Amino acid sequence: MRKDLVDKIAGLKQQHNAVILAHNYQHGEVQDLADFAGDSLGLSIKAAETDADVIVFCGVQFMAETAAILSSEKTVLLPEKSAGCPMADMIDAGQLRQLKQQHPDALVVCYVNSTAEVKAESDYCCTSANAVEVVNSLPEDKSVIFVPDRNLGQFVAERTGRDLVLWPGYCTTHVVITVDDIENARAKHPDATVIAHPECTKPVRDVSDELLSTGQMLKFAANSTAKQFIVATETGIIHALKKQNPQAEFFPATTRAICPNMKKITLDKVIASLEDMQYRVTVPDQIRVKAKKALDRMVEVLPVK
Ligand code: 13P
Ligand code: SF4
Repeated sequence: MRKDLVDKIAGLKQQHNAVILAHNYQHGEVQDLADFAGDSLGLSIKAAETDADVIVFCGVQFMAETAAILSSEKTVLLPEKSAGCPMADMIDAGQLRQLKQQHPDALVVCYVNSTAEVKAESDYCCTSANAVEVVNSLPEDKSVIFVPDRNLGQFVAERTGRDLVLWPGYCTTHVVITVDDIENARAKHPDATVIAHPECTKPVRDVSDELLSTGQMLKFAANSTAKQFIVATETGIIHALKKQNPQAEFFPATTRAICPNMKKITLDKVIASLEDMQYRVTVPDQIRVKAKKALDRMVEVLPVK
């Protein structure tokens, strides 16, 4: 990365007492300049714990909103205001209220990839790293609504043996990965271990060796004796996988698995964000307070892996 940019960002961070958080799907150079890069759970915990005054969130809207809910006294900035998540927008608070009316005794678990309004209507939040543990922590006699990702929901239902009420949401990036992609990659790299994200479709999950959040993929690769991995998730994670495991090789299941929203954030936008304190993400108090209860439960439940 250019030294003048690194120096500029360091100066701006000091001036504003700012911390830069980046998701594992960000451009490599954005991950490299961040104070912390990680998965949704790791980033939420960092956002809740940091003593910085300003959090620059290199990710998408729901991630910055989560940081603003967990750390409401801080200034949370999203460097590109149109960086949203199509899955998060697949259910709104009115639709969730209707679902709750159809299942009045059910507890609601919502994936962190959701709007603040949906979190406010939920009992618990989870990420892909701790979804199984969150659902396992609920009383067995309670039925559970899981929104918005039906793929992660099916994965949780399979792992917990519980019959969840699902919503037909999905990640537009992960559903482009096909079984053919995995089989073609396996034909080229027959010794490789296939690591896939639970947001992938069931046929893809069923042919994969391990189902992991992006943070869990990093831990798994570091602890594995395998030397080659086929990676079935957004390709941005391959930057961190290669950097942290220079002895191993990582191949994308497909180069089509790119989240256009995650890729909207560039170094120039991070600089502009710190210079102009833009774009501030806030959540109105009446939503924030309710959503925080569900998120506090999420950051308390640690994944087993
Ligand atoms: P994780 O990094 O928590 O696995 O999240 C995946 C994702 O799709 C984030 O948008
Ligand atoms: Fe949303 Fe999928 Fe992009 Fe994650 S990868 S931000 S779930 S569209």
